[in-house]
Amino acid sequence: MDVVAGLEDVRGRVRDAKRAGQRVGFVPTMGALHEGHLSLVREARARAGFAVMSVFVNPLQFGPSEDFALYPRDLGRDRRLAESAGVDLFWTPATAAMYPEAPRITVAPGAAGERFEGASRPGHFAGVLTVVLKLLALVEPDVAVFGRKDAQQAALVRAMVRDFNLPVEVVVAPTVRSHDGLALSSRNVYLDPAARAAATALYGALRRGVEVFRSGERRAAAIAAAARAALEGEQGVAPDYVACASPDDFAPVEHADAGTVLAVAASVGSGATRLIDNVVLGEGVEGDVHVAG
Ligand code: PAJ
Repeated sequence: MDVVAGLEDVRGRVRDAKRAGQRVGFVPTMGALHEGHLSLVREARARAGFAVMSVFVNPLQFGPSEDFALYPRDLGRDRRLAESAGVDLFWTPATAAMYPEAPRITVAPGAAGERFEGASRPGHFAGVLTVVLKLLALVEPDVAVFGRKDAQQAALVRAMVRDFNLPVEVVVAPTVRSHDGLALSSRNVYLDPAARAAATALYGALRRGVEVFRSGERRAAAIAAAARAALEGEQGVAPDYVACASPDDFAPVEHADAGTVLAVAASVGSGATRLIDNVVLGEGVEGDVHVAG
């Protein structure tokens, strides 16, 4: 595995790979890698001969009271995991290289970026889309892989790629969960044992929503209410939103169909760790991947 930091270095390595006839797959991350990230690498490898992973904790997508400074960072470990998953080019750009000055131009996500995660985290998706646009401009991959775990993010990236005619195929890969259903997340390291146990309530809420949908309920409010009740039953879990939304633009829906996303966000434990999760109704959680641990 080749390891580079410079923006011109990543460009040069990708150019070489393309000249050698390789398709280029790209997995952008903020590091603190887990099996969810590694599953995206495998997806990229299945679609492209040359896999690039970036690790960049993007300050632009964190709010002033969020965990930018505390965000877990362990490049040595990330490097080993990336290599074991088959990454060919591991890229860790410096903040000063990505943002030599505060960006004067940023991507406006529009209405779809102001709901749910966007409502709770003002400016978050402008920060995400701006960095993703820059990363895509630097790597110029044939295919970029994102996780369904962050379904609203994935929908916004798809919309940006379509609206700006970016020459890249966007692939969205299933959510990887631990054995008890908790979606893997870099932020799970913030959970103490009690909070870790309580955090499975998010998965329980999604399962409850799926069950109610399967029993024939199509009123979005009723499905969301059933899921929310499952969350509220758990000590140490403070729900933020529980809602049914369209998968394309995350607009709230009144009637749920197969394909509707049921999304949850909650603060968990004494540290108020904010976790998100979602499921596609009609698909259920069976399409997700479970790992031990
Ligand atoms: P990060 O949270 O590190 O996630 C990187 C990618 O891994 C995202 O596409 C995310 O959806 C995916 N991912 C995270 N947990 C997953 C899980 N349990 N199963 C499957 N995929 C999972 O998302 C970001 O970073 C940033 O916003 C980024 C896109 C890199 C821009 O800064």
